[in-house]
Amino acid sequence: MQIARTIPELREILGSRRRAAFVPTMGNLHEGHLSLVRTARKLGEVTVASIFVNRLQFLPHEDFDTYPRTWESDCEKLRAAGCDVLFAPDEKALYPEPQTCKVHPDPALADILEGHFRPGFFVGVCTVVMKLFACVQPQFAVFGKKDYQQLMVIRHMVRQFALPIDVVGVETHRADDGLALSSRNGYLGKDERVEATQLSLLLQSVAAAVREGERDFATIEARARTSLMARGWKPDYVAIRRRSDLKAPVAGDPLVVLAAARLGSTRLIDNLEFD
Ligand code: PAF
Repeated sequence: MQIARTIPELREILGSRRRAAFVPTMGNLHEGHLSLVRTARKLGEVTVASIFVNRLQFLPHEDFDTYPRTWESDCEKLRAAGCDVLFAPDEKALYPEPQTCKVHPDPALADILEGHFRPGFFVGVCTVVMKLFACVQPQFAVFGKKDYQQLMVIRHMVRQFALPIDVVGVETHRADDGLALSSRNGYLGKDERVEATQLSLLLQSVAAAVREGERDFATIEARARTSLMARGWKPDYVAIRRRSDLKAPVAGDPLVVLAAARLGSTRLIDNLEFD
């Protein structure tokens, strides 16, 4: 695996190679990321991953400084997964001057749910992803469905700017007990890790209620939030939305339930598509 630390180094390595399949990450890699790399390998002629903890997508009180940076083990994992090129710029290399030119995604999609509770988050994500796309110029870009809204916001950005990139979504990788893999799971204490599995169970119970014919989505969502609170969680949202645009569903729409909640000091998100 070749490692590029700067944009010119990356361009030199990629040269005239076409059909790059790209997996952007913030490092602290787990099986979920590696399944994105494995998907990328099937798509492109060259597999490129990036590791960059993007300050622009963190709010001032969030975990930018403490976000786990695990360089050696990330490199080992990427090598073992068959990644060809790793782009790992530092802040000076990716943002040599203050990044005042930013991508503001459609507020209808980006200011709800995650964007409501983390204002500016998707501006930060879209800005860095656009810049990484400009550096790597991939033909394919692979993202996890765990960050469901992020995937939708990026797809929309790619479509609106007519970027010649196929955005590929990969199913969420889960631990045996159902917990969606996330770099932030490492923040959970032992008891919290056991409790954390409740989030995916809750999403399943929401889907089951709808499948069994309950149609008052607001009541189902409120019940789900209450049951999380009763177990000591602090939910930001539990929301049943239609998959096409994350708006309130009408009859017959394919559905997704999305949730974000804090367990102790760890904020977890998860989602489940269902009909
Ligand atoms: O999902 C992530 O890890 C990040 O939001 C991304 C897409 C790498 C942008 O920093």
